[in-house]
Amino acid sequence: MANIYNSRPRVLSGIQPSGNLTIGNYLGALKQWVEVQRDYDCFYCVVDLHAITAGQDPVELRQKTRESAAMYIAAGIDPEVSTIFVQSHIPAHSELAWMLTCMAPLGWLQRMTQFKDKVGKQNQESIGAGLLNYPSLMAADILLYHADLVPVGDDQNQHLEFTRDLARRFNHLYGETFTLPSVMNPQAGARIMGLDNPTAKMSKSETSDNHAVFLLDDVSRARKKIMRAVTDSYRDIRFSDEPERAGVNNLLTIYQAIKDESREEIEGDFADKGYGDLKKAVAEAVVSTLEPLQARYNELMNEAGYLDSVLKLGREKASAVAEPTLKLAQDRMGFLAPS
Ligand code: TRP
Repeated sequence: MANIYNSRPRVLSGIQPSGNLTIGNYLGALKQWVEVQRDYDCFYCVVDLHAITAGQDPVELRQKTRESAAMYIAAGIDPEVSTIFVQSHIPAHSELAWMLTCMAPLGWLQRMTQFKDKVGKQNQESIGAGLLNYPSLMAADILLYHADLVPVGDDQNQHLEFTRDLARRFNHLYGETFTLPSVMNPQAGARIMGLDNPTAKMSKSETSDNHAVFLLDDVSRARKKIMRAVTDSYRDIRFSDEPERAGVNNLLTIYQAIKDESREEIEGDFADKGYGDLKKAVAEAVVSTLEPLQARYNELMNEAGYLDSVLKLGREKASAVAEPTLKLAQDRMGFLAPS
């Protein structure tokens, strides 16, 4: 599974430090990052360069970047096992992203559904070009580390496909350089939906009150949000793809992702129960996830210096991999090496 560059198969992933992390981020990404960290050489990045594609408040970006890194650790990523780093600390990301941007066909970029969705909501004249080039930066993140596997929610599969296509194009034009990454979607909970609108993915930037449970919500508030989740007027509790049953399906998906049980077991547990029981069980499961995570997070944020030392080490480890890859790509593209 490893490639010619790495002795151990490598994993890379990232989350934007914009908004507050939700249980969707935890169940759809962080939880899986933790589970794979002993089987792979893992690089987990706080993608602050991506966060500025939608505009940012400087004070908030800096704060959220620290909070995100602390949340990675609180969720169970061990900085002595995995590499935790900040994307902008490694200039190679920006440099390779530019080189890839120049090779990325405009047509491919314009076809990205995430771009189309985001642009659809805004005025074409005023959106930043970074939103269009976002996938080239993500490709740089992945290709710099010769990542074999990229754990992401399935909404990112198209960006992964783009990364592979771009890597293939580079290798074809300039000779074998990049490793083609594969996507790794979590088994359950790849896509946690909004509690208030279960047909749209739970988002940390959605502002309505009952949309998301945030990882730092106090537990009584988290409970309330789950108890208020949108359901339907049927009675039976089972997994379903039908759009009108999306609310119940989402609650079951959250439950399954936390409990790591099969669909059959879970449907069995709720066979003679009502929606109220389901919501209570989901709320308890969510609270039991949040409590230890929040305790660890608060410790970390009060432990002056520790987080900085983790990010410093992460920067060194990431740089040691990214720099040689950037040099190789620059050489292949024909840049004159500085003497
Ligand atoms: N685009 C990803 C998301 O929104 C975040 C991301 C940026 C990422 N770079 C990455 C994910 C590299 C995996 C690998 O979820």
